[in-house]
Amino acid sequence: MNADPAPQPRILVLASGSGTNLQALIDASRERDFPGQIVAVGCNRPQAFALERAAQANIDTFIVNHQDYGSREEFDGALMAEIRRHNPDLVVLAGFMRILTTDFVRALRGTMLNIHPSLLPKYTGLNTHQRALEAGDKVHGVSVHFVTEELDGGPVIAQAEVTIDPDDTPESLAEKVQEKEHLLYPIVVRWFCEGRIHLGTDYVLFDGELLKQPMRLPDERVTH
Ligand code: GRF
Repeated sequence: MNADPAPQPRILVLASGSGTNLQALIDASRERDFPGQIVAVGCNRPQAFALERAAQANIDTFIVNHQDYGSREEFDGALMAEIRRHNPDLVVLAGFMRILTTDFVRALRGTMLNIHPSLLPKYTGLNTHQRALEAGDKVHGVSVHFVTEELDGGPVIAQAEVTIDPDDTPESLAEKVQEKEHLLYPIVVRWFCEGRIHLGTDYVLFDGELLKQPMRLPDERVTH
């Protein structure tokens, strides 16, 4: 008799908006060899289209509306209670537009990823495409990082670049960056589920070795 296969890592995705990154993760998770399962999607906005994407894919959803709470601490407490209920191994922030409290972030240390539309450490925070254009940058991109107490400041795991063309606008740049996001996030989530990436004190371990530079798309390990 065959032994039962090991249970797959449980992934919980938090989103606030349209959820195109969530969709990329759902699509990737349908691949036969994908090493994890998306067990729930949580949103802070009841009208987020991400909820519909999850429902379409028969994934459990929950809403913790930030407008129902008087403080960040109360909101984060309610959100954490929902997260615990689903017992995830990995929490994936996919366009989750809330700043999280230090206690919340610490409780999920090493098990929470974020995607940010810039080549970190450049342009933390908002309006990254506009800022890259205003700075006259020739190259822009996206980063996936472990979430730590510092906003958009956790160790970066992987990045993908896009070229800025003279006629680019914040909108055209956002489109180019999103295309890369949809490739990059599933790859990094896959690595996490395979146990290949870990968060050290302030660095990433990749296959047990210190990652000196973020992984880059294209890279044979990223594109394989
Ligand atoms: C993405 O651009 C991501 O980099 C940022 O929020 C956006 C989410 O987009 N953190 P979507 O909801 O996944 O379409």
